[in-house]
Amino acid sequence: MSITLNSPLDMHLHLRDKEMLTLVAPLSAKTFSGAIIMPNLVPPISTKEELLAYKSRILEATKGQTFKPYMTLFFKPTYTKEFLENFEDELTAIKLYPAGITTNSEGGVAGFDVEELRPTLTAMSELNIPLCVHGETNGFVMDREAEFVSIYEMLATNFPKLKIIMEHITTKESVEALDRFENLYATITLHHLLLTLDDVAGGMLQPHLFCKPIAKRPEDREALRKIAFASHPKVMFGSDSAPHPQHAKESCGCAAGVFTAPIAIQVLTELFMKHSTIENLQAFISGNAQKIYNNLKVPKKIITLEKEAFLVPKIYGNVVPLYAGETINYSIKEIES
Ligand code: NCD
Ligand code: ZN
Repeated sequence: MSITLNSPLDMHLHLRDKEMLTLVAPLSAKTFSGAIIMPNLVPPISTKEELLAYKSRILEATKGQTFKPYMTLFFKPTYTKEFLENFEDELTAIKLYPAGITTNSEGGVAGFDVEELRPTLTAMSELNIPLCVHGETNGFVMDREAEFVSIYEMLATNFPKLKIIMEHITTKESVEALDRFENLYATITLHHLLLTLDDVAGGMLQPHLFCKPIAKRPEDREALRKIAFASHPKVMFGSDSAPHPQHAKESCGCAAGVFTAPIAIQVLTELFMKHSTIENLQAFISGNAQKIYNNLKVPKKIITLEKEAFLVPKIYGNVVPLYAGETINYSIKEIES
């Protein structure tokens, strides 16, 4: 039996820059129609000029492929409506990072004072620009995301017209929050559907499975699986594929991020097949996102997969993927665009 997916979207992707961009962008562009591109470069993308220049570099790196980069800005509380209006056609979302919480987030928000955030968030509400949020406090690592739910509530109630996307959710508390507020949405990664903390640190430490937010408890993974497999209309796939060079992962002081871009669609297919919910994958990987992101224009791409073993390369360039050197059970048979 073959599986067909139309215009898959990755709603949370790190493509980096320079050689890394050249290496990883074509791997996403091969199977995805488009992706929300994270702005956490050094320095982060925070002007129209930087955003347009980064977009051009992505298009150059994916030349000849059908792939739309949906660009984002790094959130600052000082963006005005006039500033954002000037390039709203090019700006798909704005990403908010708490200061210092993850890779290249030093210039993020500290304190979460609603009045300090109000000017930018009001402008975004008026222009209908979604806010993507890395929702972790700087508390105890297993509790950070659950602690952040009160900040989501503060944002959701103060800015009821703002679409707020809880990025890469990992806990049952976030899943519960989704249905409490009309304007809260979420992305879910592949690795958080697969892993718990046991896989990362229960035996020998697995640096290639270490990411932010850290994988949590079995009951959290269960809560994520439930809404992903049912293709809950407020959730969408966002890989959070976050490549780091091998030396930065296999080192004392391991960088956070799991690299899943080249195998994400195949493994998602395997997982949805295994749980007898394959009919819901299309909405999870494209349909829901198109609606949530205000009728996103999506390039046409049709991916056909079949149940056939695929040996995952041990390394792509200098980046080790999820399931490196292991066999996965679905392969891409045809790509039409
Ligand atoms: C991401 C990265 O490396 O940029 N890392 C990660 O562990 N997910 C940043 C992020 O999304 O937190
Ligand atoms: Zn990310």
